[in-house]
Amino acid sequence: MPDLKIMPSILAANRGFLDRDCKICMDQGADGIHVDVMDGHFVPNLSYGPDIVEMARTAVPQAHLNVHLMITNPHERYELFTEAGADTLLVHSESEAAMASLLPAIRKAGTRPGIVLNPDTPVDTILPFVDLVDEVLFMTVFPGFGGQEFIPRVMPGIRVLRDKYPDLDISVDGGLNRETCKTAFDHGANLFHIGSHLFKASSMQEEILAIRTTLLS
Ligand code: DX5
Ligand code: ZN
Repeated sequence: MPDLKIMPSILAANRGFLDRDCKICMDQGADGIHVDVMDGHFVPNLSYGPDIVEMARTAVPQAHLNVHLMITNPHERYELFTEAGADTLLVHSESEAAMASLLPAIRKAGTRPGIVLNPDTPVDTILPFVDLVDEVLFMTVFPGFGGQEFIPRVMPGIRVLRDKYPDLDISVDGGLNRETCKTAFDHGANLFHIGSHLFKASSMQEEILAIRTTLLS
């Protein structure tokens, strides 16, 4: 299994101090920053655009920026995000984009491509594209909002994919805390995108350490 990584989702950060919060995350031991982009169409919420990715790139130049596009037309917009400094660009399998052409285009732009599945999307639908990506993200909530409850029925799909791809980055996003991270880890996830749980912790550093310890114990 590839390295365990914990990336705070800045959707749960203080919007008035996003650059400061990106720096805090990295100082507290995060392995990167997860940026949620929502278009108000693919999901019923609006959040950030490429300017916020650019802000994060400037605030934490060395950090891995993991950008999650919850947008209907990633094939028409991905270059804005690769140019803004995304290191990984995650696109939804349920979007309007043709994955077979978009994923190689993202790689050609110098960014790691990743594919995302919503909780009700069967893992079989993304199997033809796994060789084109560096990360597969299993949503463990329906995308759009932070602070929702983890959906355990997503877990068997993670196990199926891990058994087929021992070296792939398999991530989860939504409703994660120590316990649900452990559940996902035990099914084969190695990368954890965590919003409210980390930002609500009295010490993010201690919480990141506690999650690592829980997973590896
Ligand atoms: C949800 C976003 C998540 C969100 C997770 O649509 O993709 O990244 O920030 O937030 P929590 O950890 O609070 O569920
Ligand atoms: Zn996300």
